[in-house]
Formats: sequence, structure tokens, C-alpha cells
Amino acid sequence: MNIKKVVVIGSGTMGSGIAAHLCNANIPVILLDLETEISEKAKERILKSRPPLLFEKDKINNLKVGNITDDFDNVSDADWIVEAVVERIDIKHDIYKKIFNKRKKDSIVSSNTSTIPLKVLSEKLKAEDKKDFCITHFFNPVRYMGLLEIVRDKLNDQKKINYLKDFSEEKLGKGVIVCGDTPGFLGNRIGVYAMQVAMTEAVNMNLSIEEADAVFGRPMGIPKTGVFALYDLIGIDLMSDVLKSFQKELPKEDEFQKVVSGLPIIKKLIETGYTGRKGKGGFYRMNKSENKKILEALNLNKNEYFPVKKIDLKIDKINLLELINRNDKYGKYAWSVISKIILYSSSLVPAITDEYNDIDEALRLGFNWSMGPFEMLESIGLKNFFSKIGDINHNEFLKDLKEKKVESFYDERQKYTDLQTLGKIKKTVVKLDKNDSAEIFRFKDFNIVEFNTKANALDNDSMDALKKATDKPLIIINESMQFSAGVNLNYVMEFIKNNDIKSVEKFIKYFQETCKHLKYCKYPVISAPSGLALGGGEEVVLQSNYVVTHTNIVMGLVETIVGLVPAGGGCKELLWRWCQTNESKTDPDYAPLKVFDIIGYAKTASSPQEAKPMLFLDKNHDVIINRNELLPAARKLLNNNVDMSPSKECKFKLSGKNAREKMHKILEALYNDKKILDHGMEVGKELAYVLSGGDTDLNKEVTEDQMYKLELNSFMKLVENKKTQDRIVHTLKTGKPLIN
Ligand code: NAI
Repeated sequence: MNIKKVVVIGSGTMGSGIAAHLCNANIPVILLDLETEISEKAKERILKSRPPLLFEKDKINNLKVGNITDDFDNVSDADWIVEAVVERIDIKHDIYKKIFNKRKKDSIVSSNTSTIPLKVLSEKLKAEDKKDFCITHFFNPVRYMGLLEIVRDKLNDQKKINYLKDFSEEKLGKGVIVCGDTPGFLGNRIGVYAMQVAMTEAVNMNLSIEEADAVFGRPMGIPKTGVFALYDLIGIDLMSDVLKSFQKELPKEDEFQKVVSGLPIIKKLIETGYTGRKGKGGFYRMNKSENKKILEALNLNKNEYFPVKKIDLKIDKINLLELINRNDKYGKYAWSVISKIILYSSSLVPAITDEYNDIDEALRLGFNWSMGPFEMLESIGLKNFFSKIGDINHNEFLKDLKEKKVESFYDERQKYTDLQTLGKIKKTVVKLDKNDSAEIFRFKDFNIVEFNTKANALDNDSMDALKKATDKPLIIINESMQFSAGVNLNYVMEFIKNNDIKSVEKFIKYFQETCKHLKYCKYPVISAPSGLALGGGEEVVLQSNYVVTHTNIVMGLVETIVGLVPAGGGCKELLWRWCQTNESKTDPDYAPLKVFDIIGYAKTASSPQEAKPMLFLDKNHDVIINRNELLPAARKLLNNNVDMSPSKECKFKLSGKNAREKMHKILEALYNDKKILDHGMEVGKELAYVLSGGDTDLNKEVTEDQMYKLELNSFMKLVENKKTQDRIVHTLKTGKPLIN
């Protein structure tokens, strides 16, 4: 079979997300709902979605909308029909009857159900139709969540299932885990259980919701939404429906039943419209008082909202052993939750899957955990775990490990794919060097640098690792969500607080030196970004020789937001790219003004398609939809370019004052319209000074080093300014810009 046309039925959250992602893959798709108006609205929602579901707006041309009465004929020549209507079995059964009367024989039909078993969905189908029916369980938002669970049973045509798996991996970029027909499949069975445990244990141990989210979050390698904020994000009503289904489908003696009901307050929250972020709020809410927005959290003892209290556990790096051994309530809570997750997951092998590794990967891809339960066990250490846990008598998986008295049990990673992923390759490393911010994986023919700080923020150690790894071709790539959110501003502010401005200058100089070294070193340097590549992160990308980028990226030079200018070569390199355009040949101010617009407004691109016209990506780049393929693609690029000739140094012809005056005019207009305030003007003028080439004119040449110098001078002037410091502190605290 060959998937060339898809019909998606049901244009709600999931149906529209699946349709949008098929559009991204250039697969023609028809989206049907009860009324055409409903699917029209879904189309509008796709176009307006934030973060965007489409790689670029034009992709919408792959989509047609309609209704299930007048446009149902589309099913007759569709290769894949995806049902994503409301979670009601009677409605789903009706739709399948219609589909199987119309569809062509070699098509495949799937449901996106999250809770109804395959055998129940297909109970009314003829045997020959059951062969072609399975569950394709996507996660929300479809473009961004890596996991797709395909649920099949022995009645299925396995060839078709394999085809669908390959198609979803190659064309849709999903991590596809094929699993059996058990309640909640793999991801939700463990992920939702973990949320329920985290929630009930928080109440049992008298932790506030902020405290629970602070522990069941980054310190455990779990996104910072933790449990309560995640409930709000998913929707408290939706969670409640999912849990009702678990309660019904799981055997009475299943451990999940002990936590399935959650908290009594949930019923009241739903009844009063507190369904989470889409409603009036949930466990958290935004309250407006005296024209100020205040984030509040529900106090579970008093059933009242109070301003959120920031909890700082003073943890930089994930260290589970340290966390569970902490001698405070946070340590006790962490151990209680982690141990229950490990006990439950291991008790389900092999009942829900033979591969414990698939459970870990389902949680990585579907819940963005950095470690699954079995990796948590490995990271704590079997000896430590067994000495703390007590009775494991009924758990065959753990009993077996205990009897074998092994130190370590984890074998291969990412078994669900044949691709040679970063996760797999790391285990075959020849030599490993590391410092506090990055690791260098040394192989025979190349090195890999993986940053590993929070959001991969860059500091001196990150630069050290890059520099040390250029003795061979180098690939800069990482497994965590973000390539790099930029320079570590906490690190910079620490120097400033200590009145040590010299160290800031030293660091920026080293940053520049390293980026220059990457650009000109004799071996190819390849960046392979996914997620955020902002500020300093983008400067590393810009000054690499080649780029292999994932389709889910956010790229941009956003320094002006915090009152700074890019100073790791970002201004210089983007300017150089714009100087190579045809327009620049006739207008010397074309490039400086373009870059002034991009950096001044801190414009970002949310896909490679958007990054290209801004020249954040130049001709030397590949685009990859499947994140697992980033490393194989980077290695291929290396092999094709081992004899690369080093980059030629760039020399600029810039008009200096002339260009600057044009930029100042733009700034004045913005100032008069109150779009920028005093400090905005100041930052804009520094940026103008750098991009116009400083004190130069068209008869002179500005070298690359002079451009670095201009960046550094402006950066230092701004960073010493109290108003820039106010911006940095505000953004670090709130995640939002300060306009001053
Ligand atoms: P939704 O409520 O957002 O959308 C359902 C859509 O189905 C609505 O547009 C509705 O008008 C339409 N519909 C109802 N009856 C129909 C019929 N007879 N013919 C055509 N369209 C009909 O629901 P959502 O969240 O998109 O869920 C859809 C499916 O995906 C459900 O089975 C759900 O369990 C599953 N799912 C939901 C996830 C989520 O996060 N929302 C995640 C994974 C799976």
C-alpha cells in the first residue's frame, strides 16, 4: 500500500492536529466533521495556533474540509482513514459502519482513541475488516509530541501495520511504538498512573501543590509543569474522563485502582468551571486584582487560592539518588513517588510489553520525561534501590534482578527504531570527557558535544567543551528538549552582582573566540538543533559549517529583549549572510537595515521553513522531520564533507554613519509612537552602531575581528547599564520581557 490521501473524521483538538501535521508532510488530507462549519473553524484554528501546528502557513493548501454527509465519498479513494471523534463508543461504531461500507480494500482505518480497547472498537466489524483496523494514538500537540502508539492485535494484517509504522516514522517524524491492546497502552498507563501517585502522595504527605510540582518536575527529569500544572494544561475534565475509563477497564486488584479517584476537590472544580487553563483556572489560576495579574495556587487544605509561592530546592542537575536520600519532606515525597512508579511499571513487564525499554521511550516521547521508570531505576542503582524498598515479593521483574545480584541491567536504548540514534550511539563511546556543562563523546572518526545544563544555557564550560572537541569533525547535538536557550544569564548576573565586570568581558571574548574557532577549524563542525536555538545557541548554529535541523525548532537572536546585543558573532554572521544577497550588491545599507529589523525586533522562526528567509539558515543545511534521524543525517553530512576547505574570512564594506542615520530614524518613529521607551532607544542605538560598522565608511574595510570588537563593546556598555540589568532580572524571574 501507499498513503497518498488521508481522510480525518472529527476536527476537534486531535483531528485538526493530525490533519495539520499531515499537511506538514505534504500529504493531501480531507477533514470532516458533523457540519462543514465546524471543520472550517478547525482550519482557522490551525492557522492561528500558537505554537504553530504548521511548519509554514502555505502548508494549509494540502487541507480540504467538509462534512460527513455530503463529503463522505472522499473515504472511497482514501488510503488511510483516521477517526478522531468524541470518545463515545456508539458514535465511533456508527462511523466505522459507514467507513467500512465505503472504503477501498487496500486502505487502513484507525482510531485515535485514548482509552477504548481495540477489541471493543472493532467488535462489530467483519473479520476481513478487522485485519485493516488499528489504533493510532497521537499525543497533543501532534506536531510537537514525538510519540505515536500503534495498537494492533494478532488479527491485523501485519504488513500493513509495518507500513503504517514506517510511514509515520519517515513522513510524520514520529517515534512509533507498536503495542498490544491493554488499557492506556504504554504511555498513559504509566504516565497517568505517575500523575495520580504524585497527586495523592502530595496530599498524604501534606505538600502544597507548588511543592509537589517543584519535586515532581525538573529534579526528576520531568517537565516543569509537574503534576498539578499538567492537569491544568490537559484539562481537569478530560483527565477525569480518562481516569473513569481506567477505573472501568483495569482489573479490581490493579495498583492503579488505589489512586484512580484522585482528589475529592476535582469534582467541585469541574462543576464550577475550573477545568484548567481552558476554563477559569484549575489548581492554578490567574487572578486580576488592582489591574495586576497574579498567579495563584489552590491551597488543598483550605480550598482557597493564594499567590503562588516559589519553591527553590537548590538543585542544578538531575541526581535521583541525591534527591531520594534528602533528609527532608521533599526527599521523602520523591522516594515515595519514584519507588511507586518503578514498582508499578516493572510489575507490568511482560503483561503490557516484553520490552521495558519501550515503556521508558513512551514516557520520553509522550510525556517529555528525560528518563523513563527503568532508567530511573538504573540511575538510582539497583543496590541502593533494593536496600531502600523492602518487600518486592510479587514483582517478578525486580525479583529476578535482585537474585541475579547485578549492578546494572539496562541494555539497548530506543529499540523501537532501526535508526542509529544519539541515545544508541552514546553507549558505544570510545572515550568520554566531561565538565559541568557539557559532555564530549569521542568516537573513532568524529566527536559529539552534548550540552547538559538547564535549557542548555551556555557558559564558559560549554565553550571549553566545544573548543576541546574540534580535534576531529564535530557534531553538536543533544537529547534534551532544547538545543540551547542562549547564554546563561544567571551566570552573567552572578558576576555583575559581585562587581566583577571583567569576568563578563572575559567570558564574552571566549565565546567569540570559540565561535570563530568553530567556523574556521580544519574539520567540519555540524550543529544539529531541535527545540530552542536562541541567542548564544543560535550564534553557535550560525557559525557552524553545516546545519542539520529538526522541523521543530525556534531560532532567533533575541538578545535585545534583555537589553543586550548579540555578541558571540551573531550580528556579524547574520550581517555577512545578508551582505551576500543580490540586493546588497546595489544597496550597501540593504543588509544592515534587514538585520537591524530582524535583531531589533528579536524576530524568531518556528520552523526551518521560516528560518530560511531570515537567513538564520543558509544553503548549507538539511531539514529532518524525525528527531531520531538528526544524528544519522549529521554523520552523512560529515562523511560527504571530510575534505571541506575551511571558510574564507569575511570583510565588510559598510556605510557607517549613513546607515546609522536611517536606523535612528526608525528608532525615533518607534519612540514617538511609544512602541519603545528610553532604554529601548539606547539598545537600538547600540545595535545600529554595530550593524553600521561603527566609525567607518564605504571606502574602508571592516574585518571580522573588528565586527567582533564592535559587538563586544556594545554588549559591555549595555550590560553595565542598570536598565539592562533590570531587564535581565525581570526576565529570569518571570520569563517575560520588561519594557523600560
Ligand atoms: P474534541 O472534543 O476536541 O473533538 C471531537 C470532534 O468530533 C468535534 O469536533 C465533534 O464535532 C466531532 N464529532 C462528534 N461526533 C461526530 C460524528 N459523528 N462525525 C464526525 N465528527 C463528529 O475531541 P479530541 O480531544 O480531539 O478527541 C478526539 C479523540 O482523540 C478521542 O477519541 C480522544 O479520546 C482521543 N485523544 C484525545 C487526546 C487529547 O489530548 N485531547 C489525546 C489523545 C487521544
